[in-house]
Amino acid sequence: MSPMSRADKPVRIGMLGCGVVGSEVARLLLADTEELSTRAGVKIELAAIAVRTIKPHEGINPAIFTTDPYSIVNDPEIDLIVEVMGGIEPAYELALLAIQNRKSIVTANKALLASHGAELFTAAYAQGEDIYYEASVAGAIPIIRPLRDSLVGDFVIRVMGIVNGTTNYILTKMHEDNKEFAVALKEAQDLGYAEADPTADVEGFDAAAKAAILSGLAFHTRVTVSDVYREGISQITLDDVQLAKSLGYVIKLLAIAELTPKDEISVRVHPVMLEKAHPLASVRDAFNAVFVEAESAGPLMFYGRGAGGAPTASAILGDILAVSRHIAHNSVGQRETDYADRDIAPIETTKTKFLIRLEVQDKSGVLAAIAQVFATQGVSIQTVDQNGRDADAELIIVTHLATEGELKATVDALKKMDIVSKVSSVIRVEGASA
Ligand code: HSE
Repeated sequence: MSPMSRADKPVRIGMLGCGVVGSEVARLLLADTEELSTRAGVKIELAAIAVRTIKPHEGINPAIFTTDPYSIVNDPEIDLIVEVMGGIEPAYELALLAIQNRKSIVTANKALLASHGAELFTAAYAQGEDIYYEASVAGAIPIIRPLRDSLVGDFVIRVMGIVNGTTNYILTKMHEDNKEFAVALKEAQDLGYAEADPTADVEGFDAAAKAAILSGLAFHTRVTVSDVYREGISQITLDDVQLAKSLGYVIKLLAIAELTPKDEISVRVHPVMLEKAHPLASVRDAFNAVFVEAESAGPLMFYGRGAGGAPTASAILGDILAVSRHIAHNSVGQRETDYADRDIAPIETTKTKFLIRLEVQDKSGVLAAIAQVFATQGVSIQTVDQNGRDADAELIIVTHLATEGELKATVDALKKMDIVSKVSSVIRVEGASA
């Protein structure tokens, strides 16, 4: 079909799911169909929506709802599938079937892409279809397109992001209002940020899926969520937060993806004591931000709302229009590349600075004995501070760069010492310099 004849035929959209995000996509699409069609250069039409249970949605023609998603992905008159149902199955099966049926995909589904991205991209590219997924990482923030398109001529060195709004909100409340973790979590749940079961957010699973997507794009390699080392924030105490503040840090849950000296990808999600001068340190509440360092571009920062119906719908609409243009012109957009096929660095080899908080006996020789344990494992100490005295004595040790393996061996040895009553916290430290 020539591009000219296609321009007269609408791009027909089938949407899978109509929850918080999907209903906002439908609302925005229907509110400004004409103007959005003008921008796309082709008429776009919301033709069908699959839901689990049909109920009235204000402003949406009830006739376009169905409880059978297969009727949409098998419909030859549908050109573009917008997948906003979430979860891995049946989203994966439906997306694959849609691609086999020559439909492009717009999805917000980070879990799907972080587990089955490779299969979906391969299938889509074999069929000459697009997969666009700007909303899958950091909601409204344009970060997929910048990494895939704008920076494709550069060499990314590191991507570091606050990509989970719920945990950022909890940590902000702990820092600014001195709230205990459990209290801040309850507040996040009451505000609708955290789910009743907050595990995915609080334990870093959500951020790990996003880290997999970002690192794959940045380093031209297929990365799955199982490649990502992950720790959440449930172990962070108010004492840790107060200590961070007193030392000029803020605790953030960061997704970090970087190249190691061996050209491997180190990709991880864990809490970090971040120097207050770092641009990410000022990202508060439920906001997200992604900090990218590239060889020629230098540092770049992308900031905005990472969740919520309208912000996520904004990213999805951008994708719908981009893909509609391609459909109208019988073309496809910039594709992911995986030619580099880099290895994933084992977490034990990753180098970081650490802060270790120890409850110790307050008597002569204790510091020397502890310093000896660090020396034996080859971990160089940068600073040592003592808080409290006698039974309340606490040592706060910040190391120079050490591998996770060296640090773990050090902590294991410290735990066995009679003079150490408790290793209260071990938190990685990130500086402010790009
Ligand atoms: N639950 C996520 C967050 C948003 O709190 O940022 C969806 O990925």
